[in-house]
Amino acid sequence: MNSLRNCISHSLRGGKYNHFDPSSNWYSICSKQFSASTLPEVKEKITEKAKTGILMINMGGPQTTDKVHDYLLRIMTDRDMIQLPVQGTLGPYIARRRTPEIQKKYSEIGGGSPILKWTKRQGELLCEKLDELSPNTAPHKPYVAFRYADPLTEVTLEKMESDGLERVIAFSQYPQYSCATTGSSLNAIHDFYSCRKEPSNMKWNLIDRWSTHPLLAKTIAERISEQLKEFPSDIRQDVMILFSAHSLPLKAVNRGDTYPSEVGATVHAVMEELKFSHQYALVWQSKVGPLPWLGPFTDDALKAYVKQGKKNFILVPVAFVNEHIETLHEMDIEYCHDLGKELGVNMIRRAAAPNDHPLFINALTDIVMSHLKGNSPSVSPKFLTRCPHCVNARCGLTKSWFQKVCQDKKK
Ligand code: FES
Repeated sequence: MNSLRNCISHSLRGGKYNHFDPSSNWYSICSKQFSASTLPEVKEKITEKAKTGILMINMGGPQTTDKVHDYLLRIMTDRDMIQLPVQGTLGPYIARRRTPEIQKKYSEIGGGSPILKWTKRQGELLCEKLDELSPNTAPHKPYVAFRYADPLTEVTLEKMESDGLERVIAFSQYPQYSCATTGSSLNAIHDFYSCRKEPSNMKWNLIDRWSTHPLLAKTIAERISEQLKEFPSDIRQDVMILFSAHSLPLKAVNRGDTYPSEVGATVHAVMEELKFSHQYALVWQSKVGPLPWLGPFTDDALKAYVKQGKKNFILVPVAFVNEHIETLHEMDIEYCHDLGKELGVNMIRRAAAPNDHPLFINALTDIVMSHLKGNSPSVSPKFLTRCPHCVNARCGLTKSWFQKVCQDKKK
């Protein structure tokens, strides 16, 4: 299997676009470039006492295959993320049962998730810029708070408190808000403080969504353009752009979760940036379990478009800001290689996630700066709005807590 993976070409059909030279192999380049093992280690800088902490919120991923079970267990027992009957029994059972299959996937992308290394790098680059642009709130320090893998949210919050910060910018690294992702992480922050007093001198800002930030759209457009250049000029105009985002259960959509519309807004902003140059569609991936989820699914859409006569594709991760299992395994191996080959597509490539693209670091900087300068509300009215059919009391408690801690303490 591994030797097959190492000989993948994303020009899959015979003829002039088919190359099987491993040195020009897209998957090989991509996996080497983006897997955890080859990213430079970000060393925590020893700086003077930080004044402002940037809390980088995300779901996280297991850094090694032996952490996969604990990671799955946390997901399967988180009722904000997934609701199962008899969750206390069924959740651990599913986690145990799925562990070997997921471990295998992680071993095929280099032995673990690169999400921590990318998040640390993004945080370091962001804080360097903030130190230059906002000396009054410097030094800035990045803190990573993952929901399901180390460093866990509660451990990071302890560390932030012991560092004696004056200000915290809680910054969701999901550009599009979902109650299952950002909402779950914010509930975990509230849980941490529900049995202890929050530091009275620590001012909070919350960045809960930023799906249409112009520099995010520019970054994704740039990532697409990088791949378009790889298509021979005579077929470049025929490339179909498939934006792919993690799906969610229809039950959550019907409850009023804003994620689908926010992902759609990002897609529109990116295509506007590209001057609507190509045909495009928004599709959804990573469904689990038997219940109905939001579609059309990425693999089904690829099959359908091939039937309609499309032969060239770029897959675009529109809701992930860094590489992880859904890009490196699901998109690269399962869709671009395995399915692409099965369907006999001509060329299929995958746009890189934003990662450390300079435009993306500028996007992160601009978003935080707008909070540091007081140009954005410290907590957004949209965050304070519950889903119309929300039945989770935790959501209401968390929203009230953020509303309280985000008030300007100097007033
Ligand atoms: Fe959306 Fe509670 S489920 S606010």
